[in-house]
Amino acid sequence: MSETAAQAPANTPQDAEITAALGMRSVVLVGMMGAGKSTIGRRLAARLRLPFLDADIEIEIAHAGMTIPEIFAKHGEPYFRDGEARVIARLLDNGPSVIATGGGAVMREETRNRIRDKAISIWLKADADVIMKRVKRRADRPLLQTEDPAATVSRLLEAREPVYQNADLTIWSRDVPHDRIVDECLEALRARLCTQERTDGMSVTP
Ligand code: S3P
Repeated sequence: MSETAAQAPANTPQDAEITAALGMRSVVLVGMMGAGKSTIGRRLAARLRLPFLDADIEIEIAHAGMTIPEIFAKHGEPYFRDGEARVIARLLDNGPSVIATGGGAVMREETRNRIRDKAISIWLKADADVIMKRVKRRADRPLLQTEDPAATVSRLLEAREPVYQNADLTIWSRDVPHDRIVDECLEALRARLCTQERTDGMSVTP
């Protein structure tokens, strides 16, 4: 179920140019829990006038409203990961949109390949302390229901960052106003999609 912002901010010609350059490709946000994928994704979609889709919510809808902790508890993580891969494949087939993925989604090679083929990916990179501060507010992440969540976050970061860093673009998610991060995502998308380097080093819009 996609969302479009009820009160969408002004869509500048630059934003519209990015949407046009995307064509059928989606923008996919990857990165750890608490990196801000859903918050930033929703705002980015509004700026680009694209639907916003949150893969975690789509998985819950596909399970008749069961929550992610309930799916993990009843069926286990491998089952959740299979469903996650299927849902993301479907969202990518129905682009363009802005998609927030769950933190573990790109650990599957098939999902990484699909994202590479059908989207531009942005890694929202966040430090462990920022992640911990944000995830502490909610108890809905089954992987963090451990005795030492901070140690779990460091272990996950160590395993995942080498994969996240292969995203097309990287934006540092930190404690600044959300719109600043959104602007940085848009700038990076524009640089990637709408300008090409001239041999004299100047940027031109194709
Ligand atoms: C997970 C992240 C969660 C959710 C699930 C597993 C992970 O999504 O998919 O709890 O493996 O990092 P968010 O990254 O949106 O919190």
